[in-house]
Amino acid sequence: MERWHQQAIVYQIYPKSYCDTNGDGIGDLRGIINKLPYLQELGVNALWLSPCYPSPGDDNGYDIADYRDIGPEYGTLDDFKELLEKAKERGIRILLDLVVNHTSDEHKWFREARKSRDNPYRDYYIWRDPVDGHAPSDLKAAFGGSIWEFDETTGQYYLHLFSKKQPDLNWENPKVRREIADMINYWLDMGVAGFRCDVINNLAKDEDGNILFGDRLHSYLHQLHEEALGPHGALTIGETWGLTPAQALALTGEARGELTSTFQFEHLLLGRIDGDKWMPEPVDRTRYVDILAKWEDGLKDDSYPVLVMENHDQPRALSRFGDPENYPYESATMLGAMLYGMRGIAVIYQGQELGLPNPTFRTLDEYRDIETFNGYKELKETGLYTEQEILDRLQFGSRDCGRTPIPWATGEKGGFTTGTPWIKIQVDPGFTAEEQDKDERSVLNFYRRMLALRKSEPCLQDGEFKLLLNEGGTSVYTRTVGDEAVYVVSHFADGEAAMPACVPANGEVLLANYADRADSLRPYEVLWVKA
Ligand code: GLC
Ligand code: CA
Repeated sequence: MERWHQQAIVYQIYPKSYCDTNGDGIGDLRGIINKLPYLQELGVNALWLSPCYPSPGDDNGYDIADYRDIGPEYGTLDDFKELLEKAKERGIRILLDLVVNHTSDEHKWFREARKSRDNPYRDYYIWRDPVDGHAPSDLKAAFGGSIWEFDETTGQYYLHLFSKKQPDLNWENPKVRREIADMINYWLDMGVAGFRCDVINNLAKDEDGNILFGDRLHSYLHQLHEEALGPHGALTIGETWGLTPAQALALTGEARGELTSTFQFEHLLLGRIDGDKWMPEPVDRTRYVDILAKWEDGLKDDSYPVLVMENHDQPRALSRFGDPENYPYESATMLGAMLYGMRGIAVIYQGQELGLPNPTFRTLDEYRDIETFNGYKELKETGLYTEQEILDRLQFGSRDCGRTPIPWATGEKGGFTTGTPWIKIQVDPGFTAEEQDKDERSVLNFYRRMLALRKSEPCLQDGEFKLLLNEGGTSVYTRTVGDEAVYVVSHFADGEAAMPACVPANGEVLLANYADRADSLRPYEVLWVKA
């Protein structure tokens, strides 16, 4: 089977906010088709589409009502097939979002299941009797309230780890596993190249609704691999929170027959007190690099790390880790080149290639995200914060910071739509694709050069990773094949620092975010040097 994932450069599209072609304010598949030349020029070879299935939209599409169709706001199945076809002509594969921990409560399976206790679909979901008139356990759901929702008609509770409109599927039921494997084959047979697998380590649960990371999870994934993913050579990237490298290896090792790779998000927890997204604290930049290096080392023998710094669940990396006020270009390019010099599957989130900072949200009603509204409620309930302090925390941590439309061009609506965008769009001078395309010193053109090098330079493909230095904001690592090496030198700080002695003075500079080479490192300077 062809193994292309080592060279995979995946671009995540949040379809709702990518490009709208019919003026309804919602991005659509036709919009993605129109942007294929842009994506090819950027240098990506796979697109991961966040869910564009039929959905009531309680969690913006991560609540799926039909696994085998396209939501009407995004287009039709024929549009999707056209996208597959046209992307392929440009050497771009398509990955879908596989959301199989839960469905929408409006999915046919759940509509049936809740009709009666003996409905044939009842056991597709997880039901429990009340205990002393209460919910079976007191665990809290990700978007607020209990994980158990009482169903009046049948007198039992159903489990939902996320919103109550996202009932969890019962993976113990072999029929569920069969349905999901069939559905996966349906898309793979159509030509889809693989999946990003939503909260995939949540599938197995115990009696009380606690998530189990053990044998059952591995056997469920192995079954999907045997019956669907493996035979198609599909690429799968698991969304997995809170894993150790050893656990990641257990899910992805070559001989396991489970997933290709898993995301690790440990560095994305930095800058938040105890990882709480509403609680800012200064980012420990040395630790940021140490965490990435730990994962490079931990997965080096038998897996591919996934290189990621933002997605639709995160505020923009530039605002979190860089300096959008003083060094937007330097810090955005440094964050990119420091990460994508590493070994692994590169995943770029839409707008990251433009170095977009967070948009500014002034009022609660500018937000759209269920998690953000819940955060507001919970912060309010503590009684500890003023209204403005709560809004500041939402601005800091909201998922909507990464979900506003792409500013393609200058002008009020940024070339995203001719209508009213579903969420505010922010168009700042210098941050549109149109302007950056023409500017040699833009984040966009830097990303184009960087991704081209990732593909052409053997050391950057499967070269061995080694961290040589990580101190006071300066880090150096190498990627080595035989006697060739690429040195990635990053200055993750403003101010200046000495050029580390280990960097070969007469090496060839492959990539840099300053025009000339100096004896010292300047604010957020990054260099790829070949020796
Ligand atoms: C994942 C998705 C997120 C969604 C959640 C529930 O974490 O990335 O957007 O809300 O799963 O499906
Ligand atoms: Ca549209």
